[in-house]
Amino acid sequence: MNHDATPALDPKEFRAALGSFATGVTVITARAADGTAVGLTANSFNSVSIDPPMVLWSLSKRAYSLPVFTASEHWAVHVLAADQEPLSNRFARAGEDKFAGLDLEDNVASLPLLKGCAARFQCKTSFQYEGGDHIIFVGEVTSFERSDHPPLVFHAGRYALATQKDPSLPQARSARVAGGFSEDLLGYLLGRAFFQFHEGLRSKLNAHGLSDPQWWVIAALTAKDGVTAQAVDAAISYSLGCASEPILQSLLPTGWLAVEGVDEQGIAIYCLTTSGRDRSLHLLAAAKSIEVDMIARIGYADGALLKTLLHKFIHQTDPGLPDLWCNV
Ligand SMILES: Cc1cc2nc3c(=O)[nH]c(=O)nc-3n(C[C@H](O)[C@H](O)[C@H](O)COP(=O)(O)O)c2cc1C
Repeated sequence: MNHDATPALDPKEFRAALGSFATGVTVITARAADGTAVGLTANSFNSVSIDPPMVLWSLSKRAYSLPVFTASEHWAVHVLAADQEPLSNRFARAGEDKFAGLDLEDNVASLPLLKGCAARFQCKTSFQYEGGDHIIFVGEVTSFERSDHPPLVFHAGRYALATQKDPSLPQARSARVAGGFSEDLLGYLLGRAFFQFHEGLRSKLNAHGLSDPQWWVIAALTAKDGVTAQAVDAAISYSLGCASEPILQSLLPTGWLAVEGVDEQGIAIYCLTTSGRDRSLHLLAAAKSIEVDMIARIGYADGALLKTLLHKFIHQTDPGLPDLWCNV
């Protein structure tokens, strides 16, 4: 073959193009003859054969762990779960004692086995191939375990979260008039999702005789107590849609709030009473428990993905709204 005919590839571009292939993330471990545990983060892992069960991965010739993997017959592949990003970072750092303080599976003598993964494969080397600046290891799987933990994903040089498409979801309905309202409208989806979330809390607010706006004001005061109506307006009037003073006033006779004094301009400073603080902490705990319940319904991975996307959306479309209490 005439190697000169191959045009020179830009390594940076080549790496970027390879990065468009989304993968999972693994940590591959082995033990040196002297008992030292080694391991590294690898996304070159892939399946090879079902019968016999075989997998492969490739190891940089520059890796510290290379002599151990080329000499050792056995290694373990840990497919990382979505919440194991710190473990991935730990094992992507060269050399150092990556196992310090880690809780390993203790009933296995030979291989260092990590816990909490999406799947784990114990393997025996079948072949080692030269692969440019990497060595390709092909191994036979001797045993494996699997959990329901959603996987960590790596794409375009970054960690990513994956969600499964659900073909059973109903199609968004559109109005009969072309260009009319559609249930796919983002504003509708955000509003409907909020309504469904808030509905669970509303019955608890009603039991305390609280309206939604009263609750927004109380919730804001749990973050910063002892503020004027102007300060509350500056922080949350965009969501209240009205001035906060009448709402603050309405909470005085109910025992939720008290006026603790006045500022230098003689303006009232509101604070939560002890019982108001206790009751609001209960309501915040109820809101958290509704969140836990709802995220359990869509699954941990989709819950994390939803929050990530909402944070991204809020950050990237922010018209300059105040962060709660940052501007006061
Ligand atoms: C997501 C991710 C995937 C990686 N995949 C591989 C891989 O497949 N092969 C490899 O040799 N290094 C890979 N690395 C880099 C190694 O984890 C890193 O070089 C590590 O420090 C090697 O450990 P060692 O030098 O202690 O052996 C990857 C790193 C990350 C963050």
